[in-house]
Amino acid sequence: VRRGLFVTGTGTGVGKTVVCAALMRLWRGHSTQRLRYWKPIQTGIEGDDDTRTVRGLSGCGADAVLEEGIRLPRPLSPHLAARLAGRVVDLDQLTRIANRQSTSSRWIVEGAGGVLVPLNDTELMIDLIGLLRLPVLVVARSTLGTINYTLLTVEALRRRSIRIAGVVMVGPRNRENRLAIEHYGGVEVLAELPRLQPLTAASLRRWTSKEHVLLNRMRPWFQANS
Ligand SMILES: Nc1ncnc2c1ncn2[C@@H]1O[C@H](COP(=O)(O)OP(=O)(O)OP(=O)(O)O)[C@@H](O)[C@H]1O
Ligand SMILES: [Mg+2]
Repeated sequence: VRRGLFVTGTGTGVGKTVVCAALMRLWRGHSTQRLRYWKPIQTGIEGDDDTRTVRGLSGCGADAVLEEGIRLPRPLSPHLAARLAGRVVDLDQLTRIANRQSTSSRWIVEGAGGVLVPLNDTELMIDLIGLLRLPVLVVARSTLGTINYTLLTVEALRRRSIRIAGVVMVGPRNRENRLAIEHYGGVEVLAELPRLQPLTAASLRRWTSKEHVLLNRMRPWFQANS
């Protein structure tokens, strides 16, 4: 896992998985390298399986996802889900999985929750992001409250010198929020994904087919010789 993006969010349920599926769909056919999705830590596995959702929404094959990782029952923060399962989230285990992968693939790695979600007694999601050394895409809501959450996320990432590829906003278009995030955060909003009704592989495909801007802006993170 050398090249690609780590997709984080301003919190849980903001639309990271849907954005990952959109990226998988968008980049298929445009990248000369194999594009793969990885969810290193999945909690609430009995009800939530982001890997399966990405496969369904993007229509990608089984070989386009990496199934390995830490899988925990109960839809809770990883530190707590692990503790209740009598386990400990071990970042060495995850970096070993990452290092075993072919270096030529391009990766879309999805976090769990936001950047300061605890993984164990001493480490947070942002520590895993730092270890994987991928630039970060921040998924944010478009609605009221998002400026604060997004700027906090950006500040935490900058403090650790983690590169920020940009922000994707999910929800009804909000020009003022977009401008505020760009101005105060010093980041680029790469795309605005509306609430798709219904959300299906077909509706997501229709949206990605029009997103030439996103495609072009993401080129540096995915293409072969850059
Ligand atoms: N653009 C969208 N259009 C319609 N529904 C959406 C959209 N984005 C997200 N949703 C819905 O909102 C819910 C949360 O989205 P999603 O699962 O992508 O969040 P997440 O950030 O990946 O959450 P987690 O932290 O659990 O991984 C899901 O039910 C999803 O179907
Ligand atoms: Mg998700």
